[in-house]
Amino acid sequence: MSNEKPIGIFDSGFGGLTVARAVIDLLPTEDVVYFGDTARYPYGPKPLNEVREFAFQIVEYLINEHDVKLLVVACNTAAAAALDELSAEISVPIIGVLAPGTQAAIDVSRTGRIGVIGTVGTINSGAYKRAFSTLSDEEIQPLTLACPGFVEFVEKGESSGEQLQVLAERLLAPIVSANVDTLLLGCTHYPYLARVIGQVVGSDVVLVSSADETAFEVSRQLTDMDLLVEEEKEGKRVFISSGDVSWFAEVGERLFGPELASAQAHEWNSST
Ligand code: DGL
Repeated sequence: MSNEKPIGIFDSGFGGLTVARAVIDLLPTEDVVYFGDTARYPYGPKPLNEVREFAFQIVEYLINEHDVKLLVVACNTAAAAALDELSAEISVPIIGVLAPGTQAAIDVSRTGRIGVIGTVGTINSGAYKRAFSTLSDEEIQPLTLACPGFVEFVEKGESSGEQLQVLAERLLAPIVSANVDTLLLGCTHYPYLARVIGQVVGSDVVLVSSADETAFEVSRQLTDMDLLVEEEKEGKRVFISSGDVSWFAEVGERLFGPELASAQAHEWNSST
Protein backbone atom coordinates (compact mmCIF):
# COMPACT_ATOMS: atom_id res chain seq x y z
CA MET A 1 0.00 0.00 0.00
CA SER A 2 1.24 3.52 -0.74
CA ASN A 3 2.14 5.93 2.06
CA GLU A 4 0.79 8.81 -0.03
CA LYS A 5 -2.83 7.70 0.21
CA PRO A 6 -5.15 9.66 2.53
CA ILE A 7 -6.58 8.68 5.90
CA GLY A 8 -10.40 8.39 5.73
CA ILE A 9 -12.44 9.63 8.71
CA PHE A 10 -16.23 9.59 8.96
CA ASP A 11 -19.13 10.45 11.20
CA SER A 12 -22.85 11.13 10.88
CA GLY A 13 -22.07 14.85 10.73
CA PHE A 14 -19.80 17.29 12.52
CA GLY A 15 -18.83 15.18 15.54
CA GLY A 16 -15.99 13.33 13.86
CA LEU A 17 -14.31 16.67 13.24
CA THR A 18 -13.14 16.50 16.87
CA VAL A 19 -11.21 13.36 15.91
CA ALA A 20 -10.07 14.81 12.56
CA ARG A 21 -8.67 17.82 14.44
CA ALA A 22 -6.61 15.56 16.72
CA VAL A 23 -5.37 13.44 13.78
CA ILE A 24 -4.36 16.50 11.75
CA ASP A 25 -2.62 18.13 14.72
CA LEU A 26 -0.68 14.96 15.47
CA LEU A 27 0.08 14.03 11.85
CA PRO A 28 0.13 17.32 9.91
CA THR A 29 1.81 15.86 6.81
CA GLU A 30 -0.92 13.26 6.24
CA ASP A 31 -3.72 13.79 3.70
CA VAL A 32 -7.17 13.42 5.26
CA VAL A 33 -10.57 12.85 3.66
CA TYR A 34 -13.45 13.57 6.06
CA PHE A 35 -16.99 12.41 5.35
CA GLY A 36 -19.99 13.77 7.31
CA ASP A 37 -23.22 11.93 6.54
CA THR A 38 -25.37 14.97 7.31
CA ALA A 39 -28.12 13.85 4.91
CA ARG A 40 -28.84 10.94 7.26
CA TYR A 41 -27.82 12.23 10.70
CA PRO A 42 -28.61 11.68 13.53
CA TYR A 43 -27.50 8.06 13.81
CA GLY A 44 -28.13 7.86 17.56
CA PRO A 45 -31.91 7.18 17.51
CA LYS A 46 -31.76 4.81 14.49
CA PRO A 47 -31.73 0.99 14.73
CA LEU A 48 -28.17 -0.34 14.82
CA ASN A 49 -28.63 -2.45 11.68
CA GLU A 50 -29.57 0.66 9.70
CA VAL A 51 -26.50 2.50 11.03
CA ARG A 52 -24.39 -0.57 10.14
CA GLU A 53 -25.62 -0.34 6.52
CA PHE A 54 -24.71 3.35 6.40
CA ALA A 55 -21.25 2.63 7.80
CA PHE A 56 -20.58 -0.05 5.17
CA GLN A 57 -21.76 2.28 2.41
CA ILE A 58 -19.47 5.12 3.56
CA VAL A 59 -16.50 2.79 3.98
CA GLU A 60 -16.97 1.40 0.46
CA TYR A 61 -17.22 4.94 -0.89
CA LEU A 62 -14.03 6.07 0.90
CA ILE A 63 -12.12 2.99 -0.27
CA ASN A 64 -13.39 2.98 -3.85
CA GLU A 65 -13.50 6.72 -4.58
CA HIS A 66 -10.73 8.04 -2.34
CA ASP A 67 -8.40 5.07 -2.06
CA VAL A 68 -7.81 5.56 1.68
CA LYS A 69 -4.98 3.69 3.42
CA LEU A 70 -6.64 3.61 6.85
CA LEU A 71 -10.13 4.34 8.12
CA VAL A 72 -11.32 5.94 11.34
CA VAL A 73 -14.92 5.41 12.42
CA ALA A 74 -15.12 8.76 14.23
CA CYS A 75 -18.64 8.06 15.44
CA ASN A 76 -19.37 6.01 18.54
CA THR A 77 -22.80 4.96 17.27
CA ALA A 78 -21.40 3.65 13.97
CA ALA A 79 -18.49 1.99 15.77
CA ALA A 80 -20.88 0.31 18.23
CA ALA A 81 -23.04 -0.83 15.31
CA ALA A 82 -20.43 -1.93 12.81
CA LEU A 83 -16.75 -1.88 13.84
CA ASP A 84 -16.43 -5.64 14.41
CA GLU A 85 -18.12 -6.52 11.10
CA LEU A 86 -16.17 -3.86 9.20
CA SER A 87 -12.85 -5.08 10.64
CA ALA A 88 -13.69 -8.62 9.59
CA GLU A 89 -14.81 -7.75 6.08
CA ILE A 90 -12.71 -4.95 4.66
CA SER A 91 -9.12 -5.02 3.48
CA VAL A 92 -8.13 -1.57 4.82
CA PRO A 93 -7.10 -1.22 8.51
CA ILE A 94 -9.86 0.39 10.55
CA ILE A 95 -9.94 2.10 13.96
CA GLY A 96 -12.96 3.00 16.10
CA VAL A 97 -13.31 5.46 18.96
CA LEU A 98 -14.69 3.22 21.71
CA ALA A 99 -11.54 1.41 22.81
CA PRO A 100 -9.28 4.50 22.71
CA GLY A 101 -11.84 6.53 24.70
CA THR A 102 -12.32 3.75 27.23
CA GLN A 103 -8.57 3.39 27.73
CA ALA A 104 -8.17 7.14 28.20
CA ALA A 105 -10.93 7.19 30.87
CA ILE A 106 -9.39 4.23 32.72
CA ASP A 107 -5.98 5.94 32.69
CA VAL A 108 -7.38 9.22 34.03
CA SER A 109 -9.75 7.97 36.74
CA ARG A 110 -8.41 7.89 40.30
CA THR A 111 -11.36 6.09 41.88
CA GLY A 112 -12.72 3.90 39.07
CA ARG A 113 -16.05 5.75 39.32
CA ILE A 114 -16.56 6.61 35.66
CA GLY A 115 -19.58 7.91 33.78
CA VAL A 116 -20.06 7.48 30.03
CA ILE A 117 -22.52 9.56 28.04
CA GLY A 118 -23.50 8.85 24.44
CA THR A 119 -26.35 8.47 22.01
CA VAL A 120 -29.27 6.11 22.63
CA GLY A 121 -27.81 3.72 20.02
CA THR A 122 -24.35 3.63 21.60
CA ILE A 123 -25.55 3.29 25.18
CA ASN A 124 -28.24 0.67 24.44
CA SER A 125 -25.76 -1.42 22.41
CA GLY A 126 -23.84 -2.12 25.64
CA ALA A 127 -20.60 -1.54 23.71
CA TYR A 128 -19.06 0.63 26.43
CA LYS A 129 -19.82 -1.83 29.23
CA ARG A 130 -18.11 -4.52 27.13
CA ALA A 131 -15.15 -2.25 26.37
CA PHE A 132 -14.62 -1.47 30.08
CA SER A 133 -14.82 -5.10 31.11
CA THR A 134 -12.28 -6.03 28.39
CA LEU A 135 -9.84 -3.19 29.05
CA SER A 136 -9.94 -2.64 32.82
CA ASP A 137 -8.14 -4.95 35.26
CA GLU A 138 -10.35 -3.96 38.18
CA GLU A 139 -13.68 -4.72 36.46
CA ILE A 140 -14.77 -1.10 36.28
CA GLN A 141 -18.51 -0.84 35.72
CA PRO A 142 -19.21 2.59 34.29
CA LEU A 143 -22.47 4.43 34.76
CA THR A 144 -23.69 4.75 31.16
CA LEU A 145 -26.27 7.34 30.20
CA ALA A 146 -27.94 8.29 26.91
CA CYS A 147 -28.22 12.01 26.18
CA PRO A 148 -30.77 12.38 23.38
CA GLY A 149 -30.89 15.92 22.03
CA PHE A 150 -27.24 16.92 22.51
CA VAL A 151 -26.20 16.00 18.95
CA GLU A 152 -28.94 18.13 17.44
CA PHE A 153 -27.56 21.25 19.16
CA VAL A 154 -24.12 20.67 17.63
CA GLU A 155 -25.60 20.01 14.19
CA LYS A 156 -27.42 23.35 14.49
CA GLY A 157 -24.08 24.98 15.27
CA GLU A 158 -25.13 25.78 18.87
CA SER A 159 -22.76 24.99 21.71
CA SER A 160 -24.17 27.30 24.40
CA GLY A 161 -27.40 28.97 25.45
CA GLU A 162 -30.21 28.57 27.92
CA GLN A 163 -32.05 25.72 26.19
CA LEU A 164 -28.88 23.65 26.05
CA GLN A 165 -28.12 24.44 29.69
CA VAL A 166 -31.59 23.31 30.79
CA LEU A 167 -31.33 20.09 28.74
CA ALA A 168 -27.86 19.36 30.13
CA GLU A 169 -29.02 19.85 33.73
CA ARG A 170 -31.94 17.47 33.19
CA LEU A 171 -30.01 14.78 31.29
CA LEU A 172 -26.88 14.82 33.44
CA ALA A 173 -28.61 14.71 36.85
CA PRO A 174 -27.82 10.96 37.33
CA ILE A 175 -24.14 11.64 36.60
CA VAL A 176 -24.08 14.50 39.11
CA SER A 177 -25.60 12.31 41.85
CA ALA A 178 -23.33 9.33 41.09
CA ASN A 179 -20.22 11.19 42.25
CA VAL A 180 -18.02 10.06 39.35
CA ASP A 181 -14.50 11.45 39.05
CA THR A 182 -14.31 10.97 35.27
CA LEU A 183 -16.86 11.46 32.51
CA LEU A 184 -16.16 9.93 29.11
CA LEU A 185 -17.75 11.83 26.26
CA GLY A 186 -18.86 8.75 24.35
CA CYS A 187 -20.13 10.66 21.34
CA THR A 188 -17.78 12.58 19.10
CA HIS A 189 -20.18 15.52 18.99
CA TYR A 190 -20.00 16.11 22.75
CA PRO A 191 -16.55 17.76 23.00
CA TYR A 192 -18.21 20.75 21.29
CA LEU A 193 -20.54 20.95 24.32
CA ALA A 194 -17.76 20.45 26.88
CA ARG A 195 -18.18 23.87 28.46
CA VAL A 196 -21.85 23.35 29.30
CA ILE A 197 -21.32 19.71 30.30
CA GLY A 198 -18.38 20.72 32.50
CA GLN A 199 -20.41 23.46 34.19
CA VAL A 200 -23.21 21.01 35.00
CA VAL A 201 -21.08 18.12 36.32
CA GLY A 202 -18.63 20.38 38.14
CA SER A 203 -14.95 21.11 37.83
CA ASP A 204 -13.91 18.08 39.96
CA VAL A 205 -15.01 15.73 37.20
CA VAL A 206 -12.45 15.19 34.44
CA LEU A 207 -14.01 15.18 30.98
CA VAL A 208 -12.37 12.69 28.62
CA SER A 209 -12.83 12.69 24.86
CA SER A 210 -11.69 9.86 22.61
CA ALA A 211 -10.18 12.20 20.01
CA ASP A 212 -6.56 12.40 21.19
CA GLU A 213 -6.27 8.73 22.09
CA THR A 214 -7.76 7.77 18.71
CA ALA A 215 -5.21 9.99 16.94
CA PHE A 216 -2.39 8.24 18.85
CA GLU A 217 -3.81 4.89 17.73
CA VAL A 218 -3.84 6.12 14.10
CA SER A 219 -0.20 7.14 14.46
CA ARG A 220 0.75 3.80 16.10
CA GLN A 221 -0.94 1.73 13.39
CA LEU A 222 0.53 3.73 10.50
CA THR A 223 3.98 3.51 12.11
CA ASP A 224 3.65 -0.28 12.64
CA MET A 225 2.57 -0.80 9.03
CA ASP A 226 5.24 1.61 7.76
CA LEU A 227 2.53 3.70 6.12
CA LEU A 228 3.31 7.18 7.47
CA VAL A 229 3.87 9.80 4.79
CA GLU A 230 7.58 10.35 4.32
CA GLU A 231 7.68 13.76 2.66
CA GLU A 232 7.77 16.90 4.86
CA LYS A 233 4.78 18.78 3.42
CA GLU A 234 1.44 20.15 4.57
CA GLY A 235 -1.21 17.44 4.21
CA LYS A 236 -4.25 18.03 1.98
CA ARG A 237 -7.67 18.01 3.62
CA VAL A 238 -10.88 17.22 1.81
CA PHE A 239 -14.26 17.58 3.51
CA ILE A 240 -17.32 15.88 2.05
CA SER A 241 -20.93 16.10 3.12
CA SER A 242 -23.92 14.09 1.95
CA GLY A 243 -26.27 16.94 2.96
CA ASP A 244 -26.33 20.69 2.35
CA VAL A 245 -22.71 21.48 1.53
CA SER A 246 -22.79 25.23 2.14
CA TRP A 247 -24.31 24.64 5.58
CA PHE A 248 -21.68 21.98 6.26
CA ALA A 249 -18.89 24.41 5.38
CA GLU A 250 -20.46 27.25 7.36
CA VAL A 251 -21.01 25.35 10.60
CA GLY A 252 -17.91 23.20 10.03
CA GLU A 253 -15.67 26.24 9.71
CA ARG A 254 -17.07 27.62 12.97
CA LEU A 255 -16.42 24.35 14.80
CA PHE A 256 -13.24 23.22 13.09
CA GLY A 257 -11.50 26.35 11.84
CA PRO A 258 -10.57 27.95 8.53
CA GLU A 259 -9.34 24.72 6.89
CA LEU A 260 -12.99 23.84 6.50
CA ALA A 261 -13.92 26.86 4.43
CA SER A 262 -15.36 24.68 1.68
CA ALA A 263 -16.73 21.18 1.31
CA GLN A 264 -17.57 18.79 -1.52
CA ALA A 265 -20.92 17.15 -2.08
CA HIS A 266 -21.69 13.47 -2.22
CA GLU A 267 -25.26 12.53 -2.91
CA TRP A 268 -26.46 9.07 -2.00
CA ASN A 269 -28.57 7.43 -4.65
CA SER A 270 -29.84 3.91 -5.08
CA SER A 271 -26.59 2.77 -6.70
CA THR A 272 -24.20 4.15 -4.04
N1 DGL B 1 -21.13 11.56 16.60
C1 DGL B 1 -21.85 10.35 16.73
C2 DGL B 1 -21.40 9.50 17.86
O1 DGL B 1 -20.25 9.59 18.23
C3 DGL B 1 -23.32 10.28 16.57
C4 DGL B 1 -24.23 11.38 16.50
C5 DGL B 1 -25.57 11.04 15.88
O2 DGL B 1 -25.62 11.06 14.66
O3 DGL B 1 -26.52 10.74 16.62
O4 DGL B 1 -22.13 8.70 18.37
